Amino acid sequence: MKIFAVNGSPNMKKGMTHILLENLLEGAREAGAEVETVFLQKKKINYCLGCFNCWVKTPGVCVHKDDMPELAERVRQADCVVIGTPLYVDGMTAQTKTFMDRMMILADPHFEFVDGHYRHPRRHGENPPDVVLLSVCGFYERDNFDGLIDHMERICRNMQSRFVGAVVRPSSYILALQEILAEPIEEIKEAARRAGRELVEKGTLSTQVLDDVARDYLPKEAFLKGSNEFWDRCIKEGKFLAM
Ligand SMILES: Cc1cc2nc3c(=O)[nH]c(=O)nc-3n(C[C@H](O)[C@H](O)[C@H](O)COP(=O)(O)O)c2cc1C
Repeated sequence: MKIFAVNGSPNMKKGMTHILLENLLEGAREAGAEVETVFLQKKKINYCLGCFNCWVKTPGVCVHKDDMPELAERVRQADCVVIGTPLYVDGMTAQTKTFMDRMMILADPHFEFVDGHYRHPRRHGENPPDVVLLSVCGFYERDNFDGLIDHMERICRNMQSRFVGAVVRPSSYILALQEILAEPIEEIKEAARRAGRELVEKGTLSTQVLDDVARDYLPKEAFLKGSNEFWDRCIKEGKFLAM
């Protein structure tokens, strides 16, 4: 299986998205997948201008001269694309959404009727890759991801990709507390690696593995107290101390 993973966190290697994504991909590699990752922040990806030139004037070719054609080609070659993004204002990061918008070049403007809904065919006719969403967020409750997961499921239906599942981790900064939470961190990382192995070996993600990645490790009250103390320290020192 060829996996193409994108990380849409501006914090790149310092971020919590990176920790979760790298563990998932490590599991996938162990199970025999060929894996490639890019940080969207490092790429030049301009906003879609909505000009439709890529549909009518220069089919499949965007007016922008940037890194997107190369990235779209890697999406086309992949069996599975892992979209890694932190939760920003209840959705994906701007970097990730811009990347998704620019996938327009892979669609053909004509309409077709698929499973009771009008869609655009794939420009190149091939089966689009499967999609896995991977996300982290600062808040405690797992339902913070509901809007993002729904959006990604809809994007997959729009692009006629199979949505495999969402690997999500709330209370993301648990992953930065190595000194006091080494054991839970290792359990979360191991669950993410297991998710990667499952993805390659079975082509699915079990409810159990997704629950294990997202599991509560701190009681809600401890999370509240610890988080507020953390932010007070950050404000006092004038810098974000989790990285
Ligand atoms: C602009 C911005 C918006 C955010 N919005 C949310 C949000 O709506 N819900 C939430 O739980 N966390 C939110 N967060 C927290 C991030 O999801 C969290 O910091 C995460 O760890 C960031 O990923 P990273 O560590 O890979 O950079 C937001 C952070 C930023 C900077």
